Amino acid sequence: MHIRAKSGKIDQESTDAIIIYLFQDMDFSTGPVSRIDTALDGAIRELYENNDFNGKKDQKQLLYTHGKLPTKRILLIGLGAQDQLTLDTIRKTASNAATYLRDHGIKSVSTTIHAPTSTAISRLDQSQALVEGVLLGTYQFTEFKTIDTEKIKTLAELTIIEEDDSKLEVISSGMKIGESIAHATNWTRDLISHPGNSMTPTILADTTKNMAESLGLDYCILSMPEIEEIGMGSFIGVAKGSQEPAKFIIVEYNRDNPDLDTIVIVGKGITFDSGGISIKPGQGMELMKTDMSGAAAVLGVIQAVAKLNLPIHLVALAPATENLPSGTAIKPGDVLKSLSGKTIEIISTDAEGRLILADALAYVAKHYKPDAIIDIATLTGACMHALGPFFTGLMSQNENLVEDIEDAAKRSGDRVWRLPLDDDYKAAIKSDVADLCNIGSQKYLAGATTAAHFLQVFVGDIPWAHLDIAGTAFNVPDMPYFKTGATGAGVRLLIDLAMHWK
Ligand code: BES
Ligand code: ZN
Ligand code: ZN
Repeated sequence: MHIRAKSGKIDQESTDAIIIYLFQDMDFSTGPVSRIDTALDGAIRELYENNDFNGKKDQKQLLYTHGKLPTKRILLIGLGAQDQLTLDTIRKTASNAATYLRDHGIKSVSTTIHAPTSTAISRLDQSQALVEGVLLGTYQFTEFKTIDTEKIKTLAELTIIEEDDSKLEVISSGMKIGESIAHATNWTRDLISHPGNSMTPTILADTTKNMAESLGLDYCILSMPEIEEIGMGSFIGVAKGSQEPAKFIIVEYNRDNPDLDTIVIVGKGITFDSGGISIKPGQGMELMKTDMSGAAAVLGVIQAVAKLNLPIHLVALAPATENLPSGTAIKPGDVLKSLSGKTIEIISTDAEGRLILADALAYVAKHYKPDAIIDIATLTGACMHALGPFFTGLMSQNENLVEDIEDAAKRSGDRVWRLPLDDDYKAAIKSDVADLCNIGSQKYLAGATTAAHFLQVFVGDIPWAHLDIAGTAFNVPDMPYFKTGATGAGVRLLIDLAMHWK
């Protein structure tokens, strides 16, 4: 989609359709809406007076202009009350308007920003949110459709029109930020949506290589012999069950700038999780192609951070492998020696995410001196049960990092909810035969927290936070800008965190 800001008057715009965002408490005496209303012989005011349209959130009304204005159509869409306006309302409403027009076959739309004086939301943030809403909402994954492809409708052009030339630059910057964030999120969603047979660890590594080269990022992809040589016994344990060779992916932005803070983001890259020997039930197993959502997220984040030229040193790591049962797969009871030197007793081969992350986190502790590590993973069904699809689980013992992540969640709309990580829960991962075991044994084991405690063992004393996206990565219902399929959970959150890092 071609996105731009343009100086001009929205009522003079000649295009397929104009979107007009309206509040419940609308002032019709001045401004572009009043001019449009006058040109349409008071049609908008009449709708309000008769209560047929009153600006309530997501209320829609399509009007034909019959030559009274250069545009053919106007879509009125409600934003609710002015003093209740939030960035997420803008994202959702922009998404609803754009998908509505796209589904009606419209290719090119123009709109305008009216920053109500009663809210603190800047024009920059509004334009960013609007573009995010439109691009996230109109995203479609159609790569594997070969029939009826000519019926797939797309929106080709979005223009924000601004009358006041002095505000054009700010709107244009907001749009560019929104575009980079939404493109990175949609790129991540594409990776997640690919089935396991077309998103193997090798394909994920090749995709990363192309992305890194196109942005001039440093990267390094470790293959099986190197992974074995450096002693990632926990990662290898999982990889052993599959014929597909595992990859350990490293991408770096601003590597050669020692003055910058270093943040490391680590994503779980299980390209298919069958459970291994502790095999999962068949029903819904196809969804386990999304078990690399954490890896896809960190790779999406680093590309947006690079495009936005943010002043941080960012490292994205993604251990990638399949988790399959076979004659060479690990078995319950096996003991693995991790990169950290600690031994792990396998109780369930389905708790594989923490095994590959353990070695990735130990690798970070060994090779970097980061100011923060954040890992992101579709780690536990328990987190999904606890929080459902709308909030990512956040676990950390570092209050500052928690606060920064919670603030980023509020700004970005990529929501998190903190779950406890008190030391009391640690006992669950004690093992009789090894240094620790990979799952807790009690009935009520607080599975999301237990998993986080397991990871924390490998981090040492670096500020660290864990994000469990098992519930939020895929099929989030009733969110206009997600529809069905992959959401890119964590991408907007971590980009926002990087944008506000201090
Ligand atoms: N990939 C799953 C977690 C998951 C479940 C993600 C549902 C998305 C949706 C993970 O590897 C797993 O299987 N975890 C087990 C852990 C258990 C054996 C302690 C789980 O949550 O059941
Ligand atoms: Zn599993
Ligand atoms: Zn898994």
